[in-house]
Amino acid sequence: MHSRRSQPGASPHRLPSFPPAVQALLIQLLALLATLGMAFHALPLLDVQVNVAMAVLLQGGIAAALTRWRRLAPWWPFIQFLFPLTLVLVLSLGLPSWIYLSAFSVLLILYWSTFRTQVPYYPSRAAVWHEVERLLPSDRPPRFIDIGSGFGGLTMHLARRRPDGDFAGIELAPLPWFASLVRARLSGSRGRFLRGDYADLDFGDYDVIFAYLSPAAMPALASKAMAEMKPGSLLLSHEFAIPGVEPQLLLHPGNGRDVLYGWYR
Ligand SMILES: C[S@@+](CC[C@H](N)C(=O)[O-])C[C@H]1O[C@@H](n2cnc3c(N)ncnc32)[C@H](O)[C@@H]1O
Repeated sequence: MHSRRSQPGASPHRLPSFPPAVQALLIQLLALLATLGMAFHALPLLDVQVNVAMAVLLQGGIAAALTRWRRLAPWWPFIQFLFPLTLVLVLSLGLPSWIYLSAFSVLLILYWSTFRTQVPYYPSRAAVWHEVERLLPSDRPPRFIDIGSGFGGLTMHLARRRPDGDFAGIELAPLPWFASLVRARLSGSRGRFLRGDYADLDFGDYDVIFAYLSPAAMPALASKAMAEMKPGSLLLSHEFAIPGVEPQLLLHPGNGRDVLYGWYR
């Protein structure tokens, strides 16, 4: 794996920035303050009384404009605009408060630190699992890790298909990790599931490393792979390329729209 350019984020002059979700929250708070200021001070001077609908549109509009100005990804202004509207609509349903707490708790243990990693949970498909299986070394027992293993489907599939190998998954979020542990126990799978951050692993311990992360995670993953992977080992990334690093493999599992990139060390 050879980089065509220096790693992003290496400039000593770049200011550290909050993750997008934190920026979005701060922007909503700022928009709320601006809306309150306009509703209670500025607009009454012009004889305009602000009702809830106007306040919601005002806050959404201000938040969306600030979000565009901060140049967050293109979907963020829409989310920011709709957020106050959705909040007011949901509150108007008068649901009991435990529903909010329960929904929040489930989302918390499912997504955990997605706001930091910018990698939410979504599963890969069986066609991708079969392609990964095909790429495992056949001349020796493969040591495989899925970095961000979700509910463990890929790891358990490979452990079933290659009884000679060692198959592990590491997952940051508690709910998918626990579910994969239970699934492996109940099905008698030899797949191992660790809870933690893949950044703490030594990539030198594996022959094949599989990632299905996000564009935001790729530069750091590339640096770690280049520093730690052993000669002959293979890094696979489903859907997301490494900016500036040409892949040696570019596959379309099942001849569909899925993409699997690969780099040999
Ligand atoms: C897109 S899902 C992929 C799930 C699974 N690999 C699959 O192919 O079905 C990405 C998963 O990576 C996890 N994740 C994100 N950053 C991580 C990190 N630094 N260490 C471990 N897991 C991480 C997320 O919690 C999420 O469950």
